Amino acid sequence: MYGCATDVDKPAMNTSDLDTIEVELFVQALQRRHGYDFSQYAPASLTRRVQQLADQMECKTISGLIEHVLHEPQLLPRLLEGLTVPASDMFRDPAMFRVLREQVLPLLASYPQINIWQAGCAHGQEVYSLAILLEEAGLYERSQIFATDLSERALEQAEAGIYNAREAQQWSRNYQASGGTHSLADYYSARYNLLKLDQRLRRHVTFARHNLVADGVFCEAHLILCRNVLIYFSNPLQDRVLSLFRNSLVRGGFLGLGMRESLDYASAAANFSAFAEPVRIYRLASQPEPALS
Ligand SMILES: C[S@@+](CC[C@H](N)C(=O)[O-])C[C@H]1O[C@@H](n2cnc3c(N)ncnc32)[C@H](O)[C@@H]1O
Repeated sequence: MYGCATDVDKPAMNTSDLDTIEVELFVQALQRRHGYDFSQYAPASLTRRVQQLADQMECKTISGLIEHVLHEPQLLPRLLEGLTVPASDMFRDPAMFRVLREQVLPLLASYPQINIWQAGCAHGQEVYSLAILLEEAGLYERSQIFATDLSERALEQAEAGIYNAREAQQWSRNYQASGGTHSLADYYSARYNLLKLDQRLRRHVTFARHNLVADGVFCEAHLILCRNVLIYFSNPLQDRVLSLFRNSLVRGGFLGLGMRESLDYASAAANFSAFAEPVRIYRLASQPEPALS
């Protein structure tokens, strides 16, 4: 018999097929209701985070979460925070900060004004680490750090610069391993179980919301750090973002990625050379690529 397939014709669905459908519907709801597009995030980690959000909000299924997305707009900041993993550390991957300190900043020192874009700044730990590096290199007065993130909540925390004091020991070790010669404690005050970074470190930082999926060039930068963000993106989205960075950098500018990220599959790769490949620092060519005939 010809005609529409009936339930009887359809193969049984397992839980993971259902999850896939629900996550797709969730992503659609978020985009149509709030304009945030997560359709190009890597599916496995996105599914995990959507599921975690559903659990935290005591929804039996992801479909239950969709109801919140559609009918409770005030939950948007919480949803975005849950979807975007704002985890970070000060001087995370100290070897990378050592290369910035010893090899990159001396080259940037030749510019009268140094613009740094820190994309995906989470709670700001890397922003303050950079400010300390610039301060110690005597370059901070002529530097500007543009620290951006998708999540409003992450940016609020970053601006406050207040962290759990139990991080202090690890962060001090990271700072020393990055070549720091002072004590990290010179840059914060501790009270009870909190530490607050010296607000003077914020004096050349601008925090702003910027969505790497949809927004354009943010500033003309001499250094862009975007670490541990691309791993959450599909290859085509990584490609878009890396082209955005190429277009935002001055010629000879630097790009720092996370330790599990690279330019390997990016169409912009031809414009960069590896400056310190083991710590994922790349440099934009000083001349534009010749046009293909
Ligand atoms: C794991 S944190 C990385 C923090 C820091 N860069 C580091 O490596 O320690 C990832 C950050 O990327 C941000 N993010 C995710 N998607 C984004 C997007 N489309 N545009 C801008 N930021 C995004 C998240 O909000 C989160 O704060």
